[in-house]
Amino acid sequence: MPYTQDQIFNEAHRLYGLLSHVSKTKAQKWTLADCQAAAPYILAINDAKKAKNAVVLAHSYTTPDIVYGVADFRGDSYQLAQKARETNAQMIVFAGVWFMAETAKILNPNKQVVIPAGQAGCTLADSMTAVDVQKLRAQHPGVPALCYINSSAEVKAQCDACVTSGNVFDIAQKMPGKQLIFVPDMLMAQNIAIELKRRGTPKEIISSGGSCCVHDKYRPEQVEKLRADYPGIVVIAHPECAPEVCALCDYVGSTKGMADYVSKSDARQFGMLTELGLVNRLETEHPDKSFIWPFGVCSYMKKNSLINTLQALLAPRPDQIVTVDVQVAAAAQKSIHKMFELAQ
Ligand code: 13P
Ligand code: SF4
Repeated sequence: MPYTQDQIFNEAHRLYGLLSHVSKTKAQKWTLADCQAAAPYILAINDAKKAKNAVVLAHSYTTPDIVYGVADFRGDSYQLAQKARETNAQMIVFAGVWFMAETAKILNPNKQVVIPAGQAGCTLADSMTAVDVQKLRAQHPGVPALCYINSSAEVKAQCDACVTSGNVFDIAQKMPGKQLIFVPDMLMAQNIAIELKRRGTPKEIISSGGSCCVHDKYRPEQVEKLRADYPGIVVIAHPECAPEVCALCDYVGSTKGMADYVSKSDARQFGMLTELGLVNRLETEHPDKSFIWPFGVCSYMKKNSLINTLQALLAPRPDQIVTVDVQVAAAAQKSIHKMFELAQ
């Protein structure tokens, strides 16, 4: 690659300055050698972005070399959908999973949207089809239907609005009637019912679908062990966790919600019931705080790398180019815009 030793040295040291204390695996931190290996790709991606008028949007669950090396914006599903809607760039490179890149494409039908990880799935998005939603709605006529953003364009097209983990409870509360269909996260559906009852606005939540293969693994024992091993620890979780786990935590929220909670908290030690990437972000951004992470890696998110990001920017393979049927996209766009409206 056409970069001088000085350029590579400087980029490697910049990254290592940020990541030297950050977990690469449970047992290993980011090393200078890791950063030296990443530096030429980071330089090349940042040059290619300029040449292509492209923007890189990265979910916080992707790896720190992407998040701190090449991302123009890093965040949760809602923030990334907002950024996708606002960008003036001609090309969007979405380091995340398929449904996120698909959402960006639905909001930008005339732009090229690519996903380095190719058709990286998500156990939630993959758990439900449009026909499943049609059947559920036929069984419950007149009941409004929300879908989690972790769903396909076809599923979004069948629902009144979509939601993210950052706005799910407020939007569910705003929906009319005493019953609500919510797909495809059956654990989040239980958390909605509990939260709406706590707010004094109970609803019957009718749900179908699956669960997140990362967050559904946490059990109440993990929270109990964290509290026993680290007295005074603050335990935080994502609302894709089971309600019996959430009930034991100090805070439950989206990846942005968890990051904001840590920023505002005076606590020094946090138990993290969520994916490694968010733990990496908080380790990077709060070197004065410590984070205990029992386990939890999303293999779909981790399919994004610097190598496939560079390749997708320069010469995307067909499986990396996001396309959505025009009619499906139009109906799914309504459900996404409804979310933006209701999230105000
Ligand atoms: P967030 O919107 O909270 O980032 O959640 C997305 C996700 O896939 C969590 O598993
Ligand atoms: Fe899907 Fe779970 Fe991965 Fe999030 S962490 S993208 S919900 S599989």
